[in-house]
Amino acid sequence: MAHIHRTAAAPIAPSQITPERVWLTRRRLMGGALTAALAGLAPGAVSATAEPSGAKLAYTPNSRYSVRERPNSFEDITTYNNFYEFGLQKDSASENAGSLRTRPWSVAVGGEAEVRGTFNLEDLLREQPLEERIYRLRCVEAWSMVIPWVGFPLARLLARFKPTSRARYVAFTTLYSPAQMPGQRVKVLDWPYVEGLRIDEAMHPLTLMVVGLYGRVLPNQDGAPLRLVVPWKYGFKSIKSIVRIDFTATQPRNSWNIAAPDEYGFYANVNPRVDHPRWSQASERRIGAPLFAARQPTLPFNGYAAEVADLYRGMDLRRYF
Ligand code: MTE
Repeated sequence: MAHIHRTAAAPIAPSQITPERVWLTRRRLMGGALTAALAGLAPGAVSATAEPSGAKLAYTPNSRYSVRERPNSFEDITTYNNFYEFGLQKDSASENAGSLRTRPWSVAVGGEAEVRGTFNLEDLLREQPLEERIYRLRCVEAWSMVIPWVGFPLARLLARFKPTSRARYVAFTTLYSPAQMPGQRVKVLDWPYVEGLRIDEAMHPLTLMVVGLYGRVLPNQDGAPLRLVVPWKYGFKSIKSIVRIDFTATQPRNSWNIAAPDEYGFYANVNPRVDHPRWSQASERRIGAPLFAARQPTLPFNGYAAEVADLYRGMDLRRYF
């Protein structure tokens, strides 16, 4: 798998590179807590085989927006994935995503905005100081992880396109390339994968555009080179490998809602009180936890209620699921 990450290394600007000793010191500081947390676990519960790879990024840790839980291992985060463009099994993306070419990469911007056009990803990234935020990711399949993302607030990117007063939603589109994404040769979803947010959700300070994890350039299977992360929503909202952003006046469609409208809505806010028609959303399994560990209760808005519940005041969250 290492060669996959290294191919993405070349185009990173020197200013984006963290000196190794800075990163190592940070890791060492965290090491104490890690060792303590691991002391109670069975040997082998956390793998030592996969280490973070890819080019190092320069970033500032954002503790205000980071959870205090222990992050999942790099191996868990990069081998247990949902990325149907590369297959349906959890390890399909780590095995198949090497065929995705992430540079050069451009993002087309259209719709209700003053600044539209096609932008080179490098040019967009040069304007964005990067932060590390440790977020919970809660998948609609009732498993969860804790991931140290590197990225920048989506709001800062959207502002540069000067959305008009008619822009009420933001729509996102993943790359469509059956040659690079073998899963798109099978019609499990209506390709390309699309997602959307209400504009106030898109502008919320927790909503992150992600370009890395564990301090390094994002591995392809995690949505390189640019993905969305909306931590209070089920994981399917966090669309990967984005090539288009459109500002719209009406609610955009989203892939899982198109595929199964009774099971997946537009809002997809994590809600332990509203079950999926085929399974409970009241609890979740933390990936990487020892087999004997209990499931943990799922929190409203995935634990981010204090920050985001106001966005939905007066809305029936059972109807707008
Ligand atoms: N984006 C695209 N383009 N295709 C996908 O299949 N899966 C979604 C989301 N983004 C998906 C996607 C789902 S269901 C989840 S849970 C998260 O990505 C998983 O992100 P991870 O693999 O980095 O943990």
